[in-house]
Amino acid sequence: MTIFIVLLGPPGVGKGTQAKILSETTKLAHVSSGDLFRENLKNQTELGKLAKSYMDKGELVPDDVTISMIRDRIARPDCEAGAILDGFPRTPAQAEALEKMLSEFGSEVNAVPNITAAESVLVERTSGRWTCRESGHIYHQTFSPPKQAGICDVDASELYQRDDDKVETVTKRIRVYLDQTMPLVDYYRQAGKLVEIDGTQAVEQVTEKLVAALKSKN
Ligand code: AP5
Ligand code: MG
Repeated sequence: MTIFIVLLGPPGVGKGTQAKILSETTKLAHVSSGDLFRENLKNQTELGKLAKSYMDKGELVPDDVTISMIRDRIARPDCEAGAILDGFPRTPAQAEALEKMLSEFGSEVNAVPNITAAESVLVERTSGRWTCRESGHIYHQTFSPPKQAGICDVDASELYQRDDDKVETVTKRIRVYLDQTMPLVDYYRQAGKLVEIDGTQAVEQVTEKLVAALKSKN
C-alpha cells in the first residue's frame, strides 16, 4: 500500500514548509519540483539552465521536461512507500501524466490538500523568505527566523533569497497559478480527493489541520 499526497496551493502559501514537516512525521519522501530544478541549477546541468530561463520569468517549465524529471524521481527507492508531492502536478497534462505513472506502480493519488491564503499574505511570505543553500530548509525573517541571521539552523549552510521572490515575479507566478494550476482544484474535487486547508494560520495550526484532513482521507 502506497500513499501519494499532492499539495496544491499558490506560490508562498507554505507547501514546502508543510511538506517538510509531514515528510518527517510520515517518513514519506518529500518530492518538490521547484527544489529539483534549483538542485539542477546548483549543479549547472542543462535541465537546470533551461528551468532557470522560465523560473526567472515566473513561468512554468514545459510539461515534457517536468514530467520526465518527476518520473525519474518517484522511481527512486525512497518513494516505494509513496511521497508528498510539492509543486507537481501544476497543469492538467501533468496531472494526467502523474495518474498514468502511478498506475504503472499500482498506486494512485490518495489525497490533495489545497492550501489557500490571500494574495497579500503570499507576497508577505515570499518577500521575507530565506532558503538554505545546502538542502532547501525554509525560514521567514519575521514568522520563522533562523537562530542566527543568514545561517541555517539545521546544517549551518548559507541562507539566500530566491531570485523569483521579487514582488513583480511573485505577482506573475500567482497569475500563472490562477491560469494554469487552478483547474486542478476542480479536477481533484471531482475525483473526491480534495481537502480545503486554510493556509493563513500559523505553521503549527496549518499542520494540525493537514494531519486531521489526511486521516479522514486515508
Ligand atoms: P516552486 O519552488 O514550487 O515555487 P511555488 O509553487 O511558487 O511555491 P513556493 O516554493 O514559492 O512557496 P511554498 O508554497 O513552498 O511556500 P514556503 O513553504 O516556502 O516553483 C518555482 C518555479 O519552478 C515555478 O515558478 C516554475 O517556474 C518552476 N516549477 C516548479 N514546479 C513546476 C511544475 N510542476 N511545472 C512547471 N514548472 C514548475 O513558505 C513561504 C514563506 O512563508 C517561507 O518564508 C515560510 O517560512 C513562510 N511560511 C510558511 N507557512 C507559514 C505560515 N503558516 N505562517 C507564516 N509564515 C509561513
Ligand atoms: Mg516551495
